[in-house]
Amino acid sequence: MSSFIVLGAQWGDEGKGKMTDYLAENAEVVVRFQGGNNAGHTVEVGDKQYKLHLIPSGILYGDKLNVIGNGVVLDPKAMFEEIEYLEGLGVKVSKKNFIISDRAHLIMPYHRALDSAKEKARGKNDIGTTGKGIGPCYTDKAERSGIRVCDLMHKEVFKEKLKENLDYKNEILTKIYGLDSLDFNSIYEEYLGYAEKMKQFVTDASVRVYDEIKNNKNVLFEGAQGNLLDIDYGTYPFVTSSNTIAGGVCIGAGIGPTMINSVVGIAKAYTTRVGKGPFPTELLDEMGEHIRNVGHEYGVTTGRARRCGWLDVVILKSAARVSGITSFAVTKIDTLAGMEKIKVCIGYDLNGETIEYVPASLEDLALCKPIYEEFDGWDSSVENARSYDELPENAKIYLKRIEELTGTKISIVGVGPRRDQTIVVSEI
Ligand code: GDP
Ligand code: IMO
Ligand code: MG
Repeated sequence: MSSFIVLGAQWGDEGKGKMTDYLAENAEVVVRFQGGNNAGHTVEVGDKQYKLHLIPSGILYGDKLNVIGNGVVLDPKAMFEEIEYLEGLGVKVSKKNFIISDRAHLIMPYHRALDSAKEKARGKNDIGTTGKGIGPCYTDKAERSGIRVCDLMHKEVFKEKLKENLDYKNEILTKIYGLDSLDFNSIYEEYLGYAEKMKQFVTDASVRVYDEIKNNKNVLFEGAQGNLLDIDYGTYPFVTSSNTIAGGVCIGAGIGPTMINSVVGIAKAYTTRVGKGPFPTELLDEMGEHIRNVGHEYGVTTGRARRCGWLDVVILKSAARVSGITSFAVTKIDTLAGMEKIKVCIGYDLNGETIEYVPASLEDLALCKPIYEEFDGWDSSVENARSYDELPENAKIYLKRIEELTGTKISIVGVGPRRDQTIVVSEI
């Protein structure tokens, strides 16, 4: 039995989609366990580029089983649009290679409406969400009024739950936010249409994933977002509404911790984030602009420019701690090529004291001044390296130091967006 987790060690967009696609070659099952279509995973295979949001990245192979776990919040409208997009690119999605947990919660039109209404109401204190209804859907889940996939499979149950929810949500939309109310019949009819198309995929995914692991199949759990967007360990409230850390797998896929063998933390060779909140190593100068342009750091889901900064080892250490990361995959070292000097944050100065963890208080985090170590850069030959030995000497020094500082080995290095631009250093 071999099951492993691929998750983001920073603020998302580390290259999880590419690494999942790469590592899925040796897996039979790929499982999403949290988040929803707020994720944006770009995968390049040959000369084709795929943008995935909700569907696991293993779908591109055809013969892998792709699972939407119970911890995911599922927008059926977005899902069928994504399936259509994939089929347009020649990727088949059928009940043979795609299943959905009957326990997953459904994103409803009022979740999307509330997401944007709440953001507007927050004004300058907005979180900068993706606007996909993620937060309001998880709110209903925790509040125990959510509608699950299994409810949608029962027309009468769904009708009753929708009625109850919509009456209440319309009060909020109209009376608090001054918006139009949403129409019951059109949502009901729309979702019954989804139910009909969806039922072939719906099953108890926990049972299936458990059986696959027991049958010695390799199972890959594909994370969305990243450690610092975790609702408990991230930069709250500038986070997403799910547990993005490794513990989220047990809850969101319905398997126990003893069934997981390894955890691969995906870390970009520098740091980016979209949305608001403190970012100690952020570069607001030309260097930040340079990284954004060379690294094409623009959101896949919202198109927003990503904020860019130097690598922050404090963040990686915190990810390694809370997720039990067994190895890092360091991506995009090619983006840093051509720089004379590269900096890495090895600790924070907080009011004259050095700390090596991410503080809970955002007020404290905003005061943290990065303590940097400086490295000599490398040239663009890095893109053509296909083995560790072929990497420029300075890139090796940089990677070795990350291993030392985090106390965690590096198993994979990304030198470009394509599948073949991947260097395996050691076993994951
Ligand atoms: P994810 O959300 O973690 O899957 O990451 P995104 O797909 O949002 O952003 C990562 C971007 O970097 C994508 O456009 C990838 O194609 C690209 N990418 C991934 N790994 C590498 C790499 O090693 N080098 C370069 N240049 N691009 C990469
Ligand atoms: P992937 O999987 C980067 C950010 C949003 C916002 C915050 C809350 O591609 O790494 P939400 O819509 O989830 O309520 O937004 O989280 N965010 C991401 N940032 N990558 C992502 O996904 C993200 N998903 C959400 O920008 O700051
Ligand atoms: Mg992304």
